[in-house]
Amino acid sequence: MDNLSEKYRVWVEVDLDKLCSNYRQMAKRARAKVMPVVKADAYGHGAVRVAKTLQAEEAVRQFAVVTQEEAIALRKGGVEGLVLLMGIAPKDSIPALQTADITLCVPNLEIAKRYSDAAQGKPLKIHLKLDTGMGRLGMREENAIEESLAIAQLPGLHIEGIFTQMSSSDLPGEDPFTMGQYECFKRVIEALEEKGLSIPLHHCANSAATMGFDGIHWDMVRNGLSLYGYQSREEDLGIELRPILSWGSSIVQCKTVPGGASVGYDRGYKAEGEKRIATVPLGYADGLSHGLSLGKGAFLVRGKKAPIVGKICMDMCMLDVTGIEGAQPGDLVTVLGEDGPEMISADDLAGPLDTISYEILCGIGKRVPRLYRQKGVLEKDTPYWCGYEG
Ligand SMILES: Cc1ncc(COP(=O)(O)O)c(C=O)c1O
Repeated sequence: MDNLSEKYRVWVEVDLDKLCSNYRQMAKRARAKVMPVVKADAYGHGAVRVAKTLQAEEAVRQFAVVTQEEAIALRKGGVEGLVLLMGIAPKDSIPALQTADITLCVPNLEIAKRYSDAAQGKPLKIHLKLDTGMGRLGMREENAIEESLAIAQLPGLHIEGIFTQMSSSDLPGEDPFTMGQYECFKRVIEALEEKGLSIPLHHCANSAATMGFDGIHWDMVRNGLSLYGYQSREEDLGIELRPILSWGSSIVQCKTVPGGASVGYDRGYKAEGEKRIATVPLGYADGLSHGLSLGKGAFLVRGKKAPIVGKICMDMCMLDVTGIEGAQPGDLVTVLGEDGPEMISADDLAGPLDTISYEILCGIGKRVPRLYRQKGVLEKDTPYWCGYEG
């Protein structure tokens, strides 16, 4: 990662070439269309840039989001083709979503009626959602046939797809359950076909199901995490994904403190002997979880791990760089990414917090500018500010 400390206090670098490479690996594995999941600003990577890169470089023509704002932002940014809103759209948002040609998720008859009432002009495109074991959105098998047939009769709606979400495809021990979900999905689709309702597009596999299973990919798979370079099934599946995001900052001050000196709020750390302490301008307002305080997390400085000492502040944190010779202001601090032989992944930060890589990536703060590397070139002067002005 370049040291960008002369321009930025803290920054994220997203490698779009690696994004495309991860996409190609997943597309090869899936042997079906891959629908990139770019909700939550593409898991913190910047949804419009991610989607437009995949559209331009890999001819991708289908994307998934969750909110109306995310869907409209993709269209405003020039994203074409199918944009599936996998959440529930509030009634007042329907006209704008319909004008923008967004496809909506329908998890039951009640919501279908709401969409049907609000639809105007051309039929509103929908994908039916089945709950085959996730227990979240969707129709359970017991009601799915009757409700789907009733939805098909409503005016103003066009059923273009049907989908479900696997709950445990990342857990090999739950593979029989995942296959059960798939069988349930298939049974409903076949029963609907027998009743004369044939739906063009079927999709049920997230990243882990795409990687861990053959034969359940159907027409399309919905992949998020894998495109961003992480694998949620632990076994070696022969797919080489590389994290596309690195997160950096730099040391702004370095000082030697005597034994017994305290560092940070509540005197959370007291030096046992003389220590070199580095201050880094990155805190929980930037998405660095307070839970990594008091040595639970570490960053890389000069290719070595420097533990976080004291409690993480809103805008700053402190590192123990005693063992890192020559550490000084201006040195690059790698929060996520590689530095020499060492690397810190979102899984490494997630472990001590008892969370998942998804939450680390989505949690990187809005005020951290995202810089993009494409065709090997880092665009240093055109960051994406996630809602802040540059
Ligand atoms: C409905 C749905 N489909 C697909 C995905 C993508 O999952 P993954 O990032 O594990 O590929 C998600 C993510 O949470 C989701 O909620």
